[in-house]
Amino acid sequence: MTQRTSNPRRRPYVGGNWKMNTDLASAVELADDVASGCEGLIERCDVAVFPPFPYLQVVGKTLGHHGVKLGAQDVYPEYRGAFTGEVGLDMLLDLNVSVVLVGHSERRHIMSEDDEQVNRKLLASLEAGLDVILCVGETLEQRHASQTEAVNLRQLKAGLRGVDQQQIRHVTIAYEPVWAIGTGVTAKPEDAEAVHRLIRADLQQMFRDAADMVRIMYGGSVKGGNAKELFEQPTIDGGLIGGASLNAQEFLTIVKAAAAGCHAA
Ligand code: PGA
Repeated sequence: MTQRTSNPRRRPYVGGNWKMNTDLASAVELADDVASGCEGLIERCDVAVFPPFPYLQVVGKTLGHHGVKLGAQDVYPEYRGAFTGEVGLDMLLDLNVSVVLVGHSERRHIMSEDDEQVNRKLLASLEAGLDVILCVGETLEQRHASQTEAVNLRQLKAGLRGVDQQQIRHVTIAYEPVWAIGTGVTAKPEDAEAVHRLIRADLQQMFRDAADMVRIMYGGSVKGGNAKELFEQPTIDGGLIGGASLNAQEFLTIVKAAAAGCHAA
């Protein structure tokens, strides 16, 4: 078993990305179960949920003061204005959203978002006082073409362009190989760890000491059954969970695995 040697000051972090799932009733039920199930864990692990936009308000109310963060799956990088169909920063702040996902692979590959748009969203969110989870990850074709390192580091550098040493403290990186998202195929812990090390080395180059506090999550078919072996890796600081976050018990098993990883640090 790998001994966890990560920086003990980096609290583990688990996010539940509900994507375009749940309905009003099930969103409330899920938020309620996650909030109560996280009691006693939140001291050792940061937890956030990312419901669909229409349910942000009711999920925020349901989470109450349990300590689970309210997150948004996306944002338009303006406060308000004539941007039909978009959701702006003022609205997220109004609803007490504290963290935003940017660069998720579904937005990059289905909605064709490019690195420049991802960077604009990230900078605008930080400027508004929101925390950000920046997602990066290679496709299967890119992995087979030995482009894993180049793709991840390009997305990382482009996504973080213009971020300073203070702002980077409010950023978490999620390494999410596209081929592992929603496929049931999880990256081998050692393969995920190898990419996390590359990302951490680059963060250190870019931000020196401030990089030590930046957490790097793994995402892609994390489940209750494989979370422990992933979180035991020295540079995996938590997980961004899609499918398994829709089941409160499964999600809480993952949060417990992350909290336990922190204890061993
Ligand atoms: P998954 O999704 O856990 O369903 O693979 C992860 C993600 O998209 O963040």
